[in-house]
Amino acid sequence: MTERPPYPPDANVAERPPPTAAEPLLEVHDLSVSYGRRGRIRGPLRPAVDGVTLRLSRGETLGLLGESGSGKSTIGNAILGLVRPTAGRIVFHGAVHDEDITHAPPARRRRLARHIQVVFQDPYGSLNPSRTIGQTLSEPLHVTRRHTRSQAAARVSDTLNLVGLTADAAERYPAAFSGGQRQRIAIARAIVLEPDLIVCDEPTSALDLSVQAHVLNLLVELQHTLGVAYLFISHDLDVIRHIAHRAAVVRRGTLVEEGTAHQLTTRPSHPYTQTLLTA
Ligand SMILES: Nc1ncnc2c1ncn2[C@@H]1O[C@H](COP(=O)(O)OP(=O)(O)OP(=O)(O)O)[C@@H](O)[C@H]1O
Ligand SMILES: [Mg+2]
Repeated sequence: MTERPPYPPDANVAERPPPTAAEPLLEVHDLSVSYGRRGRIRGPLRPAVDGVTLRLSRGETLGLLGESGSGKSTIGNAILGLVRPTAGRIVFHGAVHDEDITHAPPARRRRLARHIQVVFQDPYGSLNPSRTIGQTLSEPLHVTRRHTRSQAAARVSDTLNLVGLTADAAERYPAAFSGGQRQRIAIARAIVLEPDLIVCDEPTSALDLSVQAHVLNLLVELQHTLGVAYLFISHDLDVIRHIAHRAAVVRRGTLVEEGTAHQLTTRPSHPYTQTLLTA
């Protein structure tokens, strides 16, 4: 197995304190999500997410750790409006006012996309193969109708530069790029509207180990430049230690432990987190 290259020392969480002015950005109160039953099994349905409470400040990275099936993506998808919570509240602290977005209708969701974006795991499935990178990146700009055609083109090339690609990438199709480059493009699409929050759902898990560190470092850099907050979902403690300020551990739909990313990934107090550390 290839070793992951060592992370640069400036990425050490102990030397990366959370943003000082802890301005609230997102609050999740007592969130529960139940899916309809698949198949014909009888008996009570266990919720996929059960009473989860989380808080995120502006510019902060909260890591969500847990085994496969623990409910991490369900939490992210509820924040994104992709699944309907069965109970609880999601409050977004906008620049002007706070807003309960738990059941935001589709039109409001589309406008919320300016503030809340996503990067998924699969860099191959997440880009439309028949559209150029320029078309994909300018689409959100046209939806918000705040840019002329030439402003949008300038914005697309600036954004490509921000993620470490050259402006000529805009003319090409996804097939021309490697997995790591495609994930940079997916990140570019997420930041093109300068959102306040990006839900990163295992964004490096499908990448070669040698590429993972570069993409993680890019996300850290972008956070410094743009002040964006991340809800960073991963099953990998090393990744969470590297990227997150704080972290929470999900087990069977509930949070079992929360703390600084460093403490949680080096000296966990909950037995379940300890088993993740030794796994
Ligand atoms: N669309 C769905 N319909 C029914 N059950 C679902 C659906 N999506 C997820 N589940 C179930 O909900 C639980 C939590 O799934 P979820 O995808 O949130 O976990 P996860 O922590 O993201 O796992 P992984 O690390 O594998 O991505 C699992 O038991 C899963 O089988
Ligand atoms: Mg998942």
